[in-house]
Amino acid sequence: MKVLVVLAPILLFGSMALGDDKPAPFQVPADLVGKTNPVKPTPEGLAHAKKMWGYDCAICHGPGGEGKGDLTSSMKTPIKNFTDPAALQAMSDGELYYIIKAGKGEMPPEGDRAKPDDLWNMVALVRSYAKK
Ligand code: HEC
Repeated sequence: MKVLVVLAPILLFGSMALGDDKPAPFQVPADLVGKTNPVKPTPEGLAHAKKMWGYDCAICHGPGGEGKGDLTSSMKTPIKNFTDPAALQAMSDGELYYIIKAGKGEMPPEGDRAKPDDLWNMVALVRSYAKK
């Protein structure tokens, strides 16, 4: 047990240091490229996504996806205005899903905190910000 306690940080920081000079290029997995949201959003699912949005996303993307959150101006990557229908037009649902799950650049991953259904509902929420 003691050995693990001592080794774990070394392994962790060791691999981080190795990863430092060559960050893996961002790539959407083949099964998600061009994929359409397979989950029909439900009122409950969207309400849950909205709650997650408030905790995890609004700080950078703004309360209504308009790209005006507390941290937005400290990002090096420009934050898009999701209420502009053109903003996400060129991106597939699968790509948005993957970015939310795995993170991208300065955006942290949602990772295993969210189940696939939660993530697809989040994709639907993000799409819903676009004004018709
Ligand atoms: C620390 C700030 C930060 C947080 C928190 C954050 N994002 Fe992002 N997000 C970004 C940045 C920066 C990008 C652009 C990434 C890039 O293209 O390099 C981005 C990109 C995206 C994209 C892809 C479309 C685009 O703008 O290129 C989606 C969708 C998205 N974020 C949704 C979310 C959701 C949903 C959450 C919460 C679960 C979230 N983000 C949390 C900073 C953040």
